[in-house]
Amino acid sequence: MLGSHGVAREDSLTDPTDKLLTELEEFGKVNDSSTTDRTRRMLNITRDTGEFLAVLVRATLARRVLEIGTSNGYSTLWLASAIRAIGGCVTTVELSDYKIGLARATFARSDLARYIVLVHDDAGRMLRRSADGAYDLVFLDSERPEYPGWWPHLKRVLRPGGLMVVDNATSHPAEMAPFVTLVSADVQFVTSLVPVGNGEFLAVKADQGWSDRT
Ligand SMILES: C[S@@+](CC[C@H](N)C(=O)[O-])C[C@H]1O[C@@H](n2cnc3c(N)ncnc32)[C@H](O)[C@@H]1O
Repeated sequence: MLGSHGVAREDSLTDPTDKLLTELEEFGKVNDSSTTDRTRRMLNITRDTGEFLAVLVRATLARRVLEIGTSNGYSTLWLASAIRAIGGCVTTVELSDYKIGLARATFARSDLARYIVLVHDDAGRMLRRSADGAYDLVFLDSERPEYPGWWPHLKRVLRPGGLMVVDNATSHPAEMAPFVTLVSADVQFVTSLVPVGNGEFLAVKADQGWSDRT
Protein backbone atom coordinates (compact mmCIF):
# COMPACT_ATOMS: atom_id res chain seq x y z
CA MET A 1 0.00 0.00 0.00
CA LEU A 2 1.20 3.52 -0.76
CA GLY A 3 1.06 6.62 1.40
CA SER A 4 0.13 10.04 0.02
CA HIS A 5 3.70 10.61 -1.19
CA GLY A 6 3.92 7.34 -3.11
CA VAL A 7 6.16 5.77 -0.50
CA ALA A 8 5.52 2.18 0.60
CA ARG A 9 3.57 2.30 3.84
CA GLU A 10 4.04 -0.03 6.75
CA ASP A 11 1.19 -2.48 7.14
CA SER A 12 0.29 -1.27 10.67
CA LEU A 13 -2.08 1.22 9.08
CA THR A 14 -4.58 -1.42 8.08
CA ASP A 15 -7.03 -1.20 5.21
CA PRO A 16 -10.10 -0.61 7.44
CA THR A 17 -8.36 2.33 9.14
CA ASP A 18 -7.26 3.76 5.81
CA LYS A 19 -10.80 3.49 4.41
CA LEU A 20 -12.21 5.20 7.48
CA LEU A 21 -9.61 8.00 7.27
CA THR A 22 -10.46 8.56 3.60
CA GLU A 23 -14.18 8.62 4.37
CA LEU A 24 -13.64 11.15 7.18
CA GLU A 25 -11.55 13.34 4.86
CA GLU A 26 -14.34 13.39 2.30
CA PHE A 27 -16.99 14.05 4.93
CA GLY A 28 -14.89 16.87 6.44
CA LYS A 29 -14.46 18.59 3.06
CA VAL A 30 -18.15 18.46 2.16
CA ASN A 31 -19.35 19.31 5.65
CA ASP A 32 -16.94 22.19 6.29
CA SER A 33 -17.65 23.83 2.94
CA SER A 34 -21.39 23.72 3.57
CA THR A 35 -21.48 25.48 6.95
CA THR A 36 -19.98 28.60 8.48
CA ASP A 37 -20.96 27.52 11.99
CA ARG A 38 -17.58 26.70 13.56
CA THR A 39 -19.18 24.41 16.15
CA ARG A 40 -20.49 22.22 13.29
CA ARG A 41 -17.27 22.16 11.27
CA MET A 42 -14.86 19.24 11.64
CA LEU A 43 -11.69 21.35 11.12
CA ASN A 44 -9.58 18.21 10.69
CA ILE A 45 -5.82 18.23 10.30
CA THR A 46 -4.48 17.50 6.82
CA ARG A 47 -3.44 13.99 5.80
CA ASP A 48 0.25 14.93 5.70
CA THR A 49 -0.08 16.26 9.27
CA GLY A 50 -1.56 12.90 10.26
CA GLU A 51 1.40 11.11 8.69
CA PHE A 52 3.78 13.50 10.46
CA LEU A 53 2.12 12.89 13.84
CA ALA A 54 2.32 9.13 13.31
CA VAL A 55 6.04 9.42 12.54
CA LEU A 56 6.64 11.58 15.64
CA VAL A 57 4.84 9.12 17.92
CA ARG A 58 6.92 6.25 16.59
CA ALA A 59 10.23 8.14 16.49
CA THR A 60 9.88 9.35 20.08
CA LEU A 61 8.19 6.17 21.34
CA ALA A 62 5.45 8.35 22.79
CA ARG A 63 3.27 5.83 24.60
CA ARG A 64 1.32 8.37 26.66
CA VAL A 65 -0.22 10.85 24.25
CA LEU A 66 -2.67 13.65 25.04
CA GLU A 67 -4.71 15.27 22.27
CA ILE A 68 -6.61 18.48 22.99
CA GLY A 69 -9.44 18.96 20.47
CA THR A 70 -10.87 15.66 19.21
CA SER A 71 -13.60 16.88 16.82
CA ASN A 72 -14.88 13.72 15.08
CA GLY A 73 -11.68 11.80 15.81
CA TYR A 74 -9.76 12.08 12.53
CA SER A 75 -6.43 13.12 14.05
CA THR A 76 -6.95 10.71 16.95
CA LEU A 77 -6.99 7.81 14.49
CA TRP A 78 -3.55 8.83 13.18
CA LEU A 79 -2.15 9.03 16.70
CA ALA A 80 -3.77 5.73 17.70
CA SER A 81 -2.54 3.94 14.57
CA ALA A 82 1.05 4.76 15.59
CA ILE A 83 0.42 3.88 19.23
CA ARG A 84 -0.88 0.48 18.21
CA ALA A 85 2.57 -0.25 16.78
CA ILE A 86 4.51 0.76 19.93
CA GLY A 87 2.02 0.19 22.80
CA GLY A 88 0.32 2.79 24.96
CA CYS A 89 -2.75 4.96 24.50
CA VAL A 90 -3.95 8.36 23.36
CA THR A 91 -6.18 10.36 25.69
CA THR A 92 -8.23 12.84 23.68
CA VAL A 93 -10.33 15.62 25.20
CA GLU A 94 -13.33 17.31 23.62
CA LEU A 95 -15.83 19.80 25.03
CA SER A 96 -18.67 19.71 22.51
CA ASP A 97 -21.52 17.20 23.04
CA TYR A 98 -22.04 17.04 19.28
CA LYS A 99 -18.39 16.26 18.50
CA ILE A 100 -18.13 13.73 21.32
CA GLY A 101 -20.99 11.80 19.71
CA LEU A 102 -19.26 11.87 16.33
CA ALA A 103 -15.91 10.82 17.81
CA ARG A 104 -17.51 7.95 19.72
CA ALA A 105 -19.05 6.69 16.49
CA THR A 106 -15.72 7.04 14.64
CA PHE A 107 -13.80 5.07 17.27
CA ALA A 108 -16.46 2.35 17.45
CA ARG A 109 -16.13 1.87 13.68
CA SER A 110 -12.33 1.69 13.83
CA ASP A 111 -10.20 -1.17 15.09
CA LEU A 112 -8.28 1.28 17.30
CA ALA A 113 -10.78 1.89 20.11
CA ARG A 114 -8.71 -0.01 22.67
CA TYR A 115 -5.87 2.53 22.25
CA ILE A 116 -8.12 5.58 22.77
CA VAL A 117 -9.51 7.18 25.93
CA LEU A 118 -12.14 9.80 25.03
CA VAL A 119 -12.66 12.48 27.69
CA HIS A 120 -15.74 14.71 27.51
CA ASP A 121 -14.57 17.83 29.32
CA ASP A 122 -13.07 21.28 29.05
CA ALA A 123 -9.36 20.88 28.27
CA GLY A 124 -8.36 23.46 30.89
CA ARG A 125 -10.19 21.53 33.60
CA MET A 126 -8.76 18.23 32.39
CA LEU A 127 -5.22 19.67 32.35
CA ARG A 128 -5.57 21.01 35.90
CA ARG A 129 -6.33 17.54 37.26
CA SER A 130 -3.57 15.81 35.25
CA ALA A 131 -0.40 14.70 37.03
CA ASP A 132 3.03 16.24 36.48
CA GLY A 133 4.89 14.51 33.64
CA ALA A 134 1.85 12.43 32.71
CA TYR A 135 2.41 12.65 28.93
CA ASP A 136 5.22 11.96 26.45
CA LEU A 137 3.55 13.93 23.66
CA VAL A 138 0.79 16.54 23.65
CA PHE A 139 -0.99 17.44 20.42
CA LEU A 140 -2.78 20.77 20.72
CA ASP A 141 -5.54 21.52 18.19
CA SER A 142 -8.28 23.52 19.89
CA GLU A 143 -9.27 27.16 20.51
CA ARG A 144 -6.04 29.11 20.01
CA PRO A 145 -6.85 32.06 22.35
CA GLU A 146 -6.99 29.54 25.23
CA TYR A 147 -3.42 28.27 24.76
CA PRO A 148 -1.53 30.92 26.78
CA GLY A 149 -3.82 30.30 29.77
CA TRP A 150 -3.25 26.54 29.47
CA TRP A 151 0.53 26.88 29.13
CA PRO A 152 1.50 26.44 32.84
CA HIS A 153 -0.35 23.11 32.87
CA LEU A 154 0.75 22.04 29.39
CA LYS A 155 4.39 22.38 30.42
CA ARG A 156 3.74 20.67 33.75
CA VAL A 157 1.99 17.61 32.30
CA LEU A 158 4.73 17.04 29.67
CA ARG A 159 7.48 14.78 30.95
CA PRO A 160 11.09 16.00 30.69
CA GLY A 161 12.11 15.33 27.07
CA GLY A 162 8.42 15.32 26.08
CA LEU A 163 7.16 16.89 22.86
CA MET A 164 4.33 19.34 22.28
CA VAL A 165 2.94 19.72 18.74
CA VAL A 166 0.58 22.59 17.93
CA ASP A 167 -1.46 22.77 14.73
CA ASN A 168 -2.26 25.89 12.65
CA ALA A 169 1.06 27.64 13.26
CA THR A 170 1.27 28.92 9.67
CA SER A 171 -2.43 29.04 8.77
CA HIS A 172 -3.25 31.32 11.76
CA PRO A 173 0.04 33.06 12.66
CA ALA A 174 -1.55 36.10 14.32
CA GLU A 175 -3.74 34.00 16.61
CA MET A 176 -0.80 31.74 17.43
CA ALA A 177 1.69 34.56 18.06
CA PRO A 178 1.07 35.10 21.81
CA PHE A 179 1.46 31.39 22.51
CA VAL A 180 4.48 30.92 20.24
CA THR A 181 6.17 33.90 21.92
CA LEU A 182 5.46 32.50 25.38
CA VAL A 183 6.80 29.02 24.62
CA SER A 184 9.80 30.27 22.63
CA ALA A 185 10.84 32.50 25.54
CA ASP A 186 10.82 29.58 27.99
CA VAL A 187 14.40 28.37 28.58
CA GLN A 188 13.09 24.90 29.34
CA PHE A 189 11.91 24.47 25.74
CA VAL A 190 13.53 24.15 22.31
CA THR A 191 11.17 24.96 19.43
CA SER A 192 10.78 24.58 15.68
CA LEU A 193 8.18 25.57 13.11
CA VAL A 194 7.57 22.77 10.62
CA PRO A 195 5.80 23.62 7.32
CA VAL A 196 3.63 20.51 7.16
CA GLY A 197 -0.09 20.93 6.52
CA ASN A 198 -1.33 24.03 8.34
CA GLY A 199 2.06 24.44 10.05
CA GLU A 200 3.16 22.53 13.12
CA PHE A 201 4.83 24.34 16.02
CA LEU A 202 7.03 21.87 17.91
CA ALA A 203 8.41 22.38 21.41
CA VAL A 204 10.50 19.83 23.28
CA LYS A 205 10.93 20.09 27.04
CA ALA A 206 14.42 19.98 28.52
CA ASP A 207 15.60 16.65 29.85
CA GLN A 208 18.29 16.06 32.49
CA GLY A 209 20.17 13.99 29.92
CA TRP A 210 20.82 17.06 27.74
CA SER A 211 24.42 18.20 28.13
CA ASP A 212 23.59 21.83 27.23
CA ARG A 213 20.72 22.17 29.67
CA THR A 214 20.27 25.54 31.32
C1 LIG B 1 -9.68 22.07 15.20
S1 LIG B 1 -10.89 21.08 15.98
C2 LIG B 1 -10.00 19.58 16.28
C3 LIG B 1 -9.76 18.78 15.03
C4 LIG B 1 -9.16 17.41 15.28
N1 LIG B 1 -7.92 17.50 16.04
C5 LIG B 1 -8.89 16.71 13.98
O1 LIG B 1 -7.90 17.07 13.32
O2 LIG B 1 -9.66 15.83 13.61
C6 LIG B 1 -10.94 21.80 17.59
C7 LIG B 1 -11.84 21.08 18.57
O3 LIG B 1 -11.59 21.59 19.88
C8 LIG B 1 -12.82 21.55 20.60
N2 LIG B 1 -12.72 22.46 21.75
C9 LIG B 1 -12.88 23.82 21.75
N3 LIG B 1 -12.69 24.31 22.99
C10 LIG B 1 -12.38 23.24 23.79
C11 LIG B 1 -12.08 23.11 25.16
N4 LIG B 1 -12.03 24.17 25.99
N5 LIG B 1 -11.82 21.87 25.65
C12 LIG B 1 -11.86 20.78 24.84
N6 LIG B 1 -12.15 20.86 23.52
C13 LIG B 1 -12.41 22.06 22.99
C14 LIG B 1 -13.84 21.97 19.57
O4 LIG B 1 -15.15 21.57 19.94
C15 LIG B 1 -13.33 21.28 18.31
O5 LIG B 1 -13.95 20.03 18.11
